This record gives sequence, structure tokens and C-alpha cells, in this order.
Amino acid sequence: MSQTTSSTSFAVTEAADRRSADEIAHLLANPGFGSLFTEHMVLVEWTGDTGWQEARVVPYGPIPLDPSAAVFHYAQEIFEGMKAYRHSDGTVWTFRPERNAERFNASARRLAMPELPPTIFLDAIKELVTLDQGWVPPADSGETSLYLRPFMIATEEALGVRPSNRYLFSVIASPAGAYFTGGLTPVSLWVSDQYVRAAAGGTGAAKCGGNYAASLASQAEGIEHGCDQVVFLDAAEHRYVEELGGMNLFFVYADGRVVTPELTGTILPGITRSSLIDLLRERGHDVTERRFTIDEWRDGVAGGEITEVFACGTAAVITPVGRLAWSGGELAMPQDHSLTLDLRQELLDIQYGRAEDRHGWLYQLV
Ligand code: PLP
Ligand code: COI
Repeated sequence: MSQTTSSTSFAVTEAADRRSADEIAHLLANPGFGSLFTEHMVLVEWTGDTGWQEARVVPYGPIPLDPSAAVFHYAQEIFEGMKAYRHSDGTVWTFRPERNAERFNASARRLAMPELPPTIFLDAIKELVTLDQGWVPPADSGETSLYLRPFMIATEEALGVRPSNRYLFSVIASPAGAYFTGGLTPVSLWVSDQYVRAAAGGTGAAKCGGNYAASLASQAEGIEHGCDQVVFLDAAEHRYVEELGGMNLFFVYADGRVVTPELTGTILPGITRSSLIDLLRERGHDVTERRFTIDEWRDGVAGGEITEVFACGTAAVITPVGRLAWSGGELAMPQDHSLTLDLRQELLDIQYGRAEDRHGWLYQLV
């Protein structure tokens, strides 16, 4: 387990009317996902002349921006998604945040934005969660957590298409219940033959808002076809399975082999994905990262070789896939989700401090 003392100093302006513990408890009883926010936020500005400026914590609220700010026009924006988990002794931890800090900088490079020193990224999260620790749901409240959303936007007032000369880094926090309202009901996936998520050389491996904006029309198409999420295929051949709009995919074979699409540059390198590869290998599974076709998926399920399919990510943890549908057909996934659910429990037990943190994945915030 790692623990750090902050080296970034923050100018803190506390919210004038803090919510009472009773009010917060009432709000935390049914937090939903991403619609309720804590009382503070972190702001750090960057300019080409000064670099990163003083870090501030201010009351949560609107960010005034000029209508010509570059983010509104050319979508120079990146973000991360993480969770803070309360353990039974009252302490609060997050999961592999150094990886999120690294991925944030990889996204920044791809979007021609300035990199953020990882210490500022980590200290900002620690500072915000410490101040708003009353908003981290109690340890015995099921799979609730405080979802953390670091992001960076281009703020320069300029309509020229070029990298902005000013940026704002911010962190906001949102108490979260399960991402899917149906609980652990297996999700159904729509294979879009009309839309792709990312092409070689594009921004698929970056966590930038534009990728998600581009996924919304296909998501609407999926919903029209009675599905919960879309599975994206590669842009060149429309054959290789990539990922969902916000989750990576795994395929489990009857003989214990596991396949997950390899990181070809068009897929987001999920931190849950990487952690599950480690946990599966420790359990003795032969895990292969390789290109995997939609026909292999369909034939593997139809022929009984593929026994489980699941999706994973920070927000959704691990979710079994129940059905695959496409224009002109559909296929039910096997009903056995035993490895999926076992792995899910193992990961949650580590994150909530109920199992030993053998890998040093946890990072103490409070
Ligand atoms: N793929 C996409 C497109 C995502 O948005 C996410 C969520 O962050 C993931 C995969 C899973 O990544 P992680 O496990 O790091 O949350
Ligand atoms: C996450 O899992 O944290 C994500 O960012 C996925 C989605 C909410 C965008």
C-alpha cells in the first residue's frame, strides 16, 4: 500500500454553508451515477508563459468561460475516471491512481495539451477527498464510492485551430452507486455496422471528450435496437472487436483460456483491464491479448467454446454480457457467469480493503 504526504500546496476557500452530516447521509442513500456533486472542486491554471500556477480548492460551482474558449469549438478536453472507496476502519483509498496520472498525460500529449506533473494530479485528488471526506459513502453501503473526475480544458479565447495557450485542470467528485441501474443484470450489446469509435492514428487510446461525443449516435442506435451498450469494431475491416463506449471486453473459454482485444492504439488502455489480466494469470488462466474477430465471438459462443463474456471499467467494475445483437441477428451469451462474478468479488474485495492488497494497488487518500 502506498501513502504519500502532499507536496503541492493548495489555496483553500471553503464553502460557506457546509451541508450537515444528516443532509449528506440523506443524499448518499440513493446517489445514482454522476448527478450529485460534493461541495468543493480543485482548479489549477496553465499558461504558456507561466506553466502550472497555484493550485486552488474552491466551492463547487460554475466555471466562467468566454464563449470563444477553445474547448467549446475544437474539443481540446481530456479526463480521467477513478473512485475513492471507504474501508471498514473509516480510511479512504483509491485504486492505482498513478496509472490514471500517466494515462492523463498520454491523453494530454495526443491532444497537444500540456502534461500535468503526476504529483499535482495525485495531490489534487487527496486534497479534494480530504476536504469532502463526509461525501465518501460508508463502508457498509454496498458498491457505493466517491467517483473522481479529473479533467483538463482549453480556455484560451481564440477561434484559430491550434493548441490553446491556456488550460484549466480541475477535479470534481460525485458520490456514486452502481453505473448500471439494473444492478448486476447482464448487459446486451449492439454491434454497430454504421459507426466506428476510433481509427488507426486517431484518438481512440486517449481519454478525450470527443471520443464519447462520437459514440452517442451509435449508443442511440443500440438503444433503438433494445440494447444497453454498443460494441465497436475496428474502422478498417469492421471485423475486429475493440471495446464498448466506456468499457473493455474479455472472453473466457471452456478450457480456461481468456482473450481480450490487444491495445492496437484504437482502444483505451483500461486500468481495470490491466489489473484483471494480472488477477486472471495469478489464478492460472492463460490470458492472451490479441486481435479477436466478431466471427470468433459468434462462432465461439454458438459452438460452446466461449463460456463467459464480460466488460470492465472503473465506473461499471465488471459486468457480464448477456446478449449480442446486430443488424439481422442476435445471440444469447452463455448464462454461466461464475468466473466473471468471482473476479468481480476479488477486485471489489481489494478495492474496499476486505482482501489483502498483494500488488500494492491501493493508495490512501484519508
Ligand atoms: N474503455 C473506455 C472507452 C472507457 O471510457 C473506460 C473507462 O474509463 C474503459 C475502457 C475502462 O478503463 P478503466 O478500467 O481505466 O476505467
Ligand atoms: C469510467 O469508467 O470511469 C469511465 O470514464 C467510463 C464512463 C463513465 C465514461
